[in-house]
Amino acid sequence: MSADRHRADGTAMVSAPALDIDPLLDDPATRIIVCCGSGGVGKTTTAAALGVRAAERGRRAVVLTIDPARRLAQSMGIDSLDNVPRRVKGVDESAGGELHAMMLDMKRTFDEIVEAHADADRARAILDNPFYQSLSAGFAGTQEYMAMEKLGQLRSRDEWDLIVVDTPPSRSALDFLDAPKRLGSFLDGKFIRVLMAPAKVGGRAGMKFLNVGMSMMTGTLSKLMGGQLLRDVQTFVAAMDTMFGGFRTRADATYRLLQAPGTAFLVVAAPERDALREAAYFVERLAAEEMPLAGLVLNRVHGSGAPQLSADRALAAAENLAQGGIVDQGDGNAAPRGSTAASPETPRTTASSGAADGEHAEDTHAVDTPPTDGTNDVAQLTAALLRLHAERMQVLAREQRTRDRFTALHPEVAVTEVAALPGDVHDLAGLRTIGERLSHR
Ligand SMILES: Nc1ncnc2c1ncn2[C@@H]1O[C@H](COP(=O)(O)OP(=O)(O)OP(=O)(O)O)[C@@H](O)[C@H]1O
Ligand SMILES: [Mg+2]
Repeated sequence: MSADRHRADGTAMVSAPALDIDPLLDDPATRIIVCCGSGGVGKTTTAAALGVRAAERGRRAVVLTIDPARRLAQSMGIDSLDNVPRRVKGVDESAGGELHAMMLDMKRTFDEIVEAHADADRARAILDNPFYQSLSAGFAGTQEYMAMEKLGQLRSRDEWDLIVVDTPPSRSALDFLDAPKRLGSFLDGKFIRVLMAPAKVGGRAGMKFLNVGMSMMTGTLSKLMGGQLLRDVQTFVAAMDTMFGGFRTRADATYRLLQAPGTAFLVVAAPERDALREAAYFVERLAAEEMPLAGLVLNRVHGSGAPQLSADRALAAAENLAQGGIVDQGDGNAAPRGSTAASPETPRTTASSGAADGEHAEDTHAVDTPPTDGTNDVAQLTAALLRLHAERMQVLAREQRTRDRFTALHPEVAVTEVAALPGDVHDLAGLRTIGERLSHR
């Protein structure tokens, strides 16, 4: 479908190339699709919908979701947080495909590292420790990194034709690309080095090898944190180091994977100024990193069942109705309310003819003052509906301007639009509908 549009006045608008989702999903060369974008725009929904559609079109697909809404996770059978892909039931597998899904649980992943590297009591102590809690929450970009790490793992298993990756709800869409670097610099950081020193040298026994400066530093920390706690944190950080060992090498591998021709990035955005500004920035960043952008998904776009009725005309008609006056009939003719002017055989003069004649008093009444029967209610309702329509048309116009601005900036970016569903997307049927809308089927 072409994204070409026309304004209400018929003039042509900037047009973006259409993004064809189905060929992308069907192409055996497409191995990874990354859905990114700013917070709350529909990344998780889009990723899950693409997974369902790819599977139902015959591909063995896996979706890596991050913080899916509970009901959506339940409907996909992934509401238990175990970091392992599960086969999704209810997907039509007649074309030979299947869908697996998992959700990445950041906190759980962190806790698992601790549990794996300390005995049960010590692990409990670390997990309950406020320092650990704030530390684990404060690792900016770790979730992003973990998602990439998991992607690397899934890809190396070579078990799936297609991996669809959701990205975390970052404050900025760019966090996702910056994460490995930031996590790297965190692990390279001086503070962490100091903390890790004894553990690296050889566990707690290593303490005695510390030089004076170091022990003064850790001594101060010990006072602040308590000796046992410090050692606990050291254990944790050492465990982190093991976990992220060879970090740079793996980060490089992930980057190469993301740059590979089999990867397709989809930037998801709402048709709103801020979201599209961020999307434009992200498009530029992907280009700078030489990462293959497939296109832009404009999600939750508004539509109207009567786009030919402009906001202005709807408002004018509502105004007239409310005043008990004249309704614009759409062809420029004004018809008095209460007349049967819609029927061509009926002379227009009916309503006002013989105004002085007692027999036609009711007709006259109908023109001059609001009628007392149900007609008034209908008029009020119609006016309210027309106003609603006008509001909707204004939203449409605003969204269109925002889209035009994006396309003017990046005319090369293919776009697909997904109309907003009336409610949230929380089951396979909803995901299927989103998939159809994504591919305009
Ligand atoms: N086209 C749509 N029509 C109706 N509702 C939608 C549509 N797309 C997404 N939603 C709803 O919007 C909400 C946010 O969507 P989603 O969780 O996919 O966004 P997200 O980008 O992953 O958010 P976050 O950044 O928090 O991870 C959900 O409740 C989802 O059901
Ligand atoms: Mg999400």
